[in-house]
Amino acid sequence: MHEWTPDLDELAAAVLDYASERAKRPKDPRWGAKDAAELAAAIEGAVSPEGIGGHAALDIFRDTLLPACRPNDDPMMLSYVPTAPSIAAVLFDMVVGASSIFAGHWEAGAGAIAAENQALRWIMDLAGFPATAAGCFVSGGTAANLAALVTARHRWRDRNEPSGRPLAVLATDGAHASIDVVARVMDVELIRVPADETGRMTAEALESTLEASEHLEPVAVVTSAGTTNAGVVDDLDGIASVCERTGLWLHVDAAYGGGALASTTHRGELDGIERADSFGIDPHKWLFAPYDCAAILYRDPAMAAHAHAQQAAYLDAVDRDEANPADLSLHLTRRARGLPLWFSLATNGTRAYAEAVDTALRLAHDVAERIRTHERLELVLEPTLSVVLFRRLGWDEDAYTAWSERTARAGTALVVPTRWRGEMCLRICVVNPRTDPADLEALLADMTS
Ligand SMILES: Cc1ncc(COP(=O)(O)O)c(C=O)c1O
Repeated sequence: MHEWTPDLDELAAAVLDYASERAKRPKDPRWGAKDAAELAAAIEGAVSPEGIGGHAALDIFRDTLLPACRPNDDPMMLSYVPTAPSIAAVLFDMVVGASSIFAGHWEAGAGAIAAENQALRWIMDLAGFPATAAGCFVSGGTAANLAALVTARHRWRDRNEPSGRPLAVLATDGAHASIDVVARVMDVELIRVPADETGRMTAEALESTLEASEHLEPVAVVTSAGTTNAGVVDDLDGIASVCERTGLWLHVDAAYGGGALASTTHRGELDGIERADSFGIDPHKWLFAPYDCAAILYRDPAMAAHAHAQQAAYLDAVDRDEANPADLSLHLTRRARGLPLWFSLATNGTRAYAEAVDTALRLAHDVAERIRTHERLELVLEPTLSVVLFRRLGWDEDAYTAWSERTARAGTALVVPTRWRGEMCLRICVVNPRTDPADLEALLADMTS
């Protein structure tokens, strides 16, 4: 198992061949059956004392298992937040796996961490974060939010005597569901700031919510730079002023919308992010990295290290003056999951990123324009980034659901209904520059014919 035998040359070629073909053509039949008994039968005996051999296992994956998944890089995957990893990033992911890098501490992973930090610096420069800022790659936006809020609480405790009031964080109900879970994990209260009619948190609403929350001890405000459901960006600049005045930690959840930092047309929507104490961004959403690649960036990384660094006798040899990603979030062992992004940036250049992000934005705004002028369709909200919420006039909830299921089963597209202020509607989220405008046009035609 640990010796290279001649037959492994062939297996390696087959695996590489398969992976490259998949990267070339992310659209394949993928809306297949997910019947648990069928799947169990297909893999029956694969894990056995003798094994079945790599070629047979690869066949099962290609023919049965992947078709029973819904890889999110299908250009017509338009629900949730899809993904669209670049080919270079996908290929390099295999290299990362083959390299066994422990990227928690500089001492073990310096080369990988240096490259990851170069990619993070690019993101921080786009955001306008100072040269002293730093961060690390984490598994997802949920992990980034948790790391940020744990650091915020740590800073509050560092600066304040306990008041006896329960600690709290503030967010609108448009903030990602993970904020609710993070608050529960941290055992802090979650105060909801009412959003305005477009779904944004404003400075005024934050201030009046703070006034009404004197029985609690707020430590942080979580803003969204692109809510998951509607792509709404809170008033980051106005909220930053409130946070500066009150000493609250400002976290920006840019897990989805952070891709727009690279845009030449929509970067301005995220103005104010440069004033945050921390922001999270998911390159596996809109910066063309494969799963799982998110990042958390801190204005003051020393505070994050105070909150997170693991200390033990067996870690005494770790040089804490170096950049140690393990110190900046809840992890120790860490895959160098930022390397595929770095490799792709180095391969393609940052201009290609701006173009790809702009393409997705243009696709979404073109769809919005079609909807705006269509007699049977209506925008629910003017899109800010690349999420479009709209209604099909004349449809009830059953009609939305039936159309969505039929379209998914036919393999045409995945567009699941969502709700805005309780009303069911349709939602399209475009991050994939490979999405064909003609396919989007055909989708609208299908729902209006
Ligand atoms: C705005 C936002 N924040 C956080 C998350 C959670 O990210 P992850 O699924 O990578 O944990 C998401 C996921 O869609 C998101 O859209």
